[in-house]
Amino acid sequence: MPQDYEAPALRDQYLLFHYGEADMALPFAFGPEAALDFPERVVAEMVADHAPDARALDIGCAVGRSAFALSRRCAEVVAIDYSASFIEAAERIRSEGTLAYTAADEGAITRTLTAHVPAHAHPDRIRFAVGDAMALDAGLGTFDVVLLLNVICRLPEPAVCLNRLHEFVAPGGQLIVSSPYTWLEEYTPPVHWLRSTRESRGGAPTLHDFLGAHFTLEETRDMPFLIREHRRKYQWCVPEVTRWRRR
Ligand SMILES: C[S@@+](CC[C@H](N)C(=O)[O-])C[C@H]1O[C@@H](n2cnc3c(N)ncnc32)[C@H](O)[C@@H]1O
Repeated sequence: MPQDYEAPALRDQYLLFHYGEADMALPFAFGPEAALDFPERVVAEMVADHAPDARALDIGCAVGRSAFALSRRCAEVVAIDYSASFIEAAERIRSEGTLAYTAADEGAITRTLTAHVPAHAHPDRIRFAVGDAMALDAGLGTFDVVLLLNVICRLPEPAVCLNRLHEFVAPGGQLIVSSPYTWLEEYTPPVHWLRSTRESRGGAPTLHDFLGAHFTLEETRDMPFLIREHRRKYQWCVPEVTRWRRR
């Protein structure tokens, strides 16, 4: 059963994933703390130096944390997601500064938390909008930094998105792709799961088949994240994060 990205429960799970304090996102002393703050870590560790007037595009931004992180270092951030519910939440945080949400503890037992605009972010630099990664609007223009974080294995035909990314990255610009490559029939018919044309290798070598004509691979890292489903159940995931430079 695929996740319904419009469902309030999933929206709230993502709000905790993106904005939750460490003691809420992981309320145990023995868990994988290295997996906290994924959107902030990706921007801090994988986005290379760029000009201060950089334009950034965040494709599949969910409830927006990576867009806020980008706003500290880029002059303009366009952040799109297919889910109207996620974009509405991100825009509420941007325009009103806070948003209350619910974290699941056990069964019907929940607690109310508040998401805040992250410290030192620039909400005025961000535009959140509903958009489709497989039908990106050419009118968006080109960007110096493009993020595509944990989206490709949620698309019906990821190659359609990958094959057009060069149109949106300015020459010399950077593209950060993160993916756990969790291929599921519910999202992506198996015929469209990314496969290498050379041999059955996965990961960055396969991405290279789609991006290599226009991009040079600069860096590859394993970067964990943690999503709390309820107090005693978590998704620990280790996507591969790659940075590509537009030639
Ligand atoms: C696994 S979440 C990752 C969210 C965020 N980038 C992160 O890393 O935390 C996948 C996101 O992709 C979005 N998504 C799914 N299909 C999409 C599409 N066709 N275009 C844009 N976003 C899409 C979902 O709504 C969801 O926010």
